Amino acid sequence: MRLEGKTAIVTGAGRGIGKETALTFAREGAAVAVADINEEDINEVSQEIENNGGRAIAQTVDVTDRESVRTLVDKAKETFGRVDIVVNNAGITADAQLLKMEEDQWDRVIDVNLKGVFNVSQAAAKVMKEQESGVILNASSVVGTYGNFGQTNYAATKWGVNGMTKTWAKELGRFNIRVNAVAPGFVYTPMTEKMPEKVLTMMKEKAVLKDLASVEDIANAYLFLASKEARFITGEILAVDGGVVI
Ligand code: NAI
Repeated sequence: MRLEGKTAIVTGAGRGIGKETALTFAREGAAVAVADINEEDINEVSQEIENNGGRAIAQTVDVTDRESVRTLVDKAKETFGRVDIVVNNAGITADAQLLKMEEDQWDRVIDVNLKGVFNVSQAAAKVMKEQESGVILNASSVVGTYGNFGQTNYAATKWGVNGMTKTWAKELGRFNIRVNAVAPGFVYTPMTEKMPEKVLTMMKEKAVLKDLASVEDIANAYLFLASKEARFITGEILAVDGGVVI
């Protein structure tokens, strides 16, 4: 197992990519703190991990709230003894074109996608520095490199995530902490499944591999970057987009 003996915190682990990442990490031997703002979902996910013979705790967290984040990191360390891996996956959208975007839409997305990643990473990095090892993985997006119509706020946060990833890789490398990001393109989620066939076909056509990513594709990228196989990779933004942008 590729994460045998490791411990991980995954934010936004109640559903979607975060849930799949938590399940994948647990299957590969990691003890996982399943963290999300939605309490019901995390209980289900951590129960599923335990039913499969893995180790997990469910912890409610609001990544925008520094006290709540501190509690999460303390609880993970207290329960598992260490914090080896953090996946900053929690993220939201509140789309509107520049000329129509409300201040509240801007603030909410910045708060979760940017400040949330800062909050969790700062708290976890303190523990990782003491351990003299750790891996921080951030959820970026191809939108963070190429922009997207209607996503001023979201693009700004993912661009910011890329900047923080590279900055922290430089700052934390001397403590044996690696920092990387995964940048998905289009992913099959409950949201995309409901889209009209025409839109889905158009999205698939944009990828040279003529498909959308599955949540497993993204979780596998996190797994690779968290594992020993990636021991010499840091400061990298790994696109998992089937070649939407080359
Ligand atoms: P999702 O909406 O299915 O799941 C996000 C999770 O984050 C939810 O469980 C939600 O409760 C949680 N969350 C929201 N606000 C929170 C907060 N303040 N504190 C703690 N948890 C909070 O999202 P999905 O699609 O799985 O995306 C996950 C990440 O991947 C996001 O950062 C997203 O920006 C990124 N991404 C997703 C793509 C996609 O096509 N689904 C494409 C590119 C990037």
